[in-house]
Amino acid sequence: MKTILSAVIVLLFGLQATVAQAADAYVPKVYGKKGYVWDEMTPERVQVLKQKGDPVNGKEAFRGCQGCHKADAAGVREGVYPRLTGQHASVLIKQITEIRAGIRKNPKMLPFVQDPAISVQEIGDIAEYLSTLTSYRENGKGPEDLSAKGEKLFMTNKCYTCHGKHGEGNAEKSYPAVAAQHYGYLIREMNLIRTGVRGNSNPDMVKAIAKFKQSDMDAVADYLSRLPDYRTLH
Ligand code: HEC
Ligand code: HEC
Repeated sequence: MKTILSAVIVLLFGLQATVAQAADAYVPKVYGKKGYVWDEMTPERVQVLKQKGDPVNGKEAFRGCQGCHKADAAGVREGVYPRLTGQHASVLIKQITEIRAGIRKNPKMLPFVQDPAISVQEIGDIAEYLSTLTSYRENGKGPEDLSAKGEKLFMTNKCYTCHGKHGEGNAEKSYPAVAAQHYGYLIREMNLIRTGVRGNSNPDMVKAIAKFKQSDMDAVADYLSRLPDYRTLH
């Protein structure tokens, strides 16, 4: 009996060590640090992508997000809170899981998306729900129409190769849609990505935007904010 008991104890300790090892194995890397690979899949993101999102439960789970992103998920015009409607589910999942993993820095939002506020299943549910939303308030635009200059910069600097000619992004590659997003948010993100502060910067994008002056970013943001939601194009 005693030997069986000690065998069980040894087995349990062994299991515990294996679990601890598995949890330790994943170390998130951020932009600018050694070993950073853009779009490296976190174990959690792999899990979310395997599941099927349930939009009905997603709507329920989104209640905890409404204080900032608002009930219609259109955020606020000043751009403090981004519009989540019109964004690809794959991009939403990438952002939420990377914020949870500490790759994308977002201390304000973290408590609301961390366990237990939402579960791994609910990440996919919310993304699925948001991608079904079609109506939203008008987004924030720049103070003056700079879209001619902005469009030129967007094309000559090859931003469109990732974000699409209509700012529609690329769901498969997790490149965000940037059309019809709030002006203020677009400017902030370009700065955060360029300086690496956002944590999940795409190195090729950093190169593409490296020579931009602040006035160039203002013009591109204004241009993108005036584009229609890509889903209204077809
Ligand atoms: C306390 C306010 C707050 C709450 C609550 C909140 N968020 Fe956010 N969220 C933000 C802010 C601020 C940003 C933009 C951060 C930045 O500038 O990088 C953001 C960004 C995001 C983004 C990235 C959008 C993009 O275009 O890259 C997603 C996705 C998101 N939030 C989803 C959610 C979900 C889902 C919930 C609820 C479970 C939630 N948020 C709750 C404040 C909040
Ligand atoms: C190699 C592909 C690529 C190129 C080229 C590129 N981007 Fe990006 N961009 C991305 C990715 C990827 C993200 C999101 C980062 C992440 O989470 O992985 C992003 C994010 C953004 C965002 C923030 C969107 C959001 O919802 O948070 C803006 C604005 C933006 N890019 C503008 C530009 C502009 C302007 C250019 C050209 C000067 C450009 N990008 C070139 C891939 C690219």
